[in-house]
Amino acid sequence: MNEQDTEKMACLLSSKGMDRIQDANNADIVIVNTCCIREKAEQKFYSLMGRLRKIKRRKELILGVTGCIAQQEKDTIGKRLPFIDFSLGPSSIHMIAEAVDLASRKDRFFDFSDNGCAASLLVEPGNAGQKVKTSVTIMKGCNNFCSYCIVPYVRGREVSRNSVDILREITNLSMNGVKEVTLLGQNVNSYNKGRDDLSFPDLLKGINAIDGIKRIRFITSHPRDLSIELIECFGSLNKLCESIHLPFQAGSDRILKSMNRGYTIEEYRKKIVLLRQRCPDMAITSDCIVGFPGEGEEDFEMTMNLVKDIRFHNLFSFVYSPRKHTAASILPDAVSRELAFERLACLQQYQKSITIEYNKSMEGRLEEVLVEDRSKNSGEEMTGRTRTNKIVNFQGSSDMIGNFVEVEIVKGYANSLKGEMRKPSGGNTC
Ligand code: 5AD
Ligand code: SF4
Repeated sequence: MNEQDTEKMACLLSSKGMDRIQDANNADIVIVNTCCIREKAEQKFYSLMGRLRKIKRRKELILGVTGCIAQQEKDTIGKRLPFIDFSLGPSSIHMIAEAVDLASRKDRFFDFSDNGCAASLLVEPGNAGQKVKTSVTIMKGCNNFCSYCIVPYVRGREVSRNSVDILREITNLSMNGVKEVTLLGQNVNSYNKGRDDLSFPDLLKGINAIDGIKRIRFITSHPRDLSIELIECFGSLNKLCESIHLPFQAGSDRILKSMNRGYTIEEYRKKIVLLRQRCPDMAITSDCIVGFPGEGEEDFEMTMNLVKDIRFHNLFSFVYSPRKHTAASILPDAVSRELAFERLACLQQYQKSITIEYNKSMEGRLEEVLVEDRSKNSGEEMTGRTRTNKIVNFQGSSDMIGNFVEVEIVKGYANSLKGEMRKPSGGNTC
């Protein structure tokens, strides 16, 4: 979501004649787009601001802070960081050009309003970079208030975009060479809940009918909102890829309740069974938090058992980080950092072995790969992804970018696959 916001701001500024560069030392304007989901991200932000302050002392520089930390610290950010020129919350990023313009005239600018109609959602970054795949925001915000999560406080309540606008944007992207689209939203599968517009499955059907689009993904889904109609889209919509990210967060019902997640672990398991009935080879990935307040040894064991039973293709696991304003931040029975990190290491070690097993089991298989770019590690190799969202590196040439190729997987590693091209174009099956 943050990356997409960065794209939107870059697009708005490039339409005002500005070019994007990566090196802050050579820039006239530096915009730091922030995340505050865990404390570590915040710490990184403040140390980066220290470095940028030094650059600003040496040369003329417009410095702005956008995103979730800006929103969270809206009352104090101007004082705490007196050297910044502007700051915008996530719902105000559509004002970026105005903020830069005012700053260039030595006028500080701050906006953290959450206007509800979500002007920031209407910004369409286009495909100036001629990318093969891109993301499209279809909703923003979250109404769930999981007890540990800061998102509803910094990104506001759920707002869905009109389906007509989304379908038009994706049609335009397809005409600009985009083959794969990922639909984005904090709670993407509650798209249009309670609104008189297309349901999420119907939106997927609409996108499936757009000619140039060959692959569809969406992120992030809430298990409670994973309806039967949505599950049935897998395997019946030929462009919907066989992968889903479905965070479970904890394996114990007691902890799930305290997290305010709105489902039991039995209900979660049943949805996984249904997904696998539709698509046996579906790659299911998840998020999970360890060291949540009150998490005892048995609770953690239930998390381990779930991970062992379900065998996720990948798992993003985190130590619980107390966040300002959230209900969990005042819960008793904190788990010591030491124990939480021990649990994390145990979980991650186990998951790594499963991920490697999955990747090794793909050796010898033929996979359809959408070629995205040159591989970062080796200039001679190309990189792309399978429908199950696995990275594949293989010998090829730049003229393949944007094409589908059939690749035989010859080696499975922890984070990627090595392949050999067999045919310039692959199939499109579930
Ligand atoms: N502490 C640790 N992890 C968190 N996440 C969200 N909030 C917190 C927190 N306070 C994790 C969840 C979520 C992922 C994006 O970040 O697992 O799914
Ligand atoms: Fe945060 Fe996701 Fe829960 Fe919303 S559903 S509160 S974004 S963890």
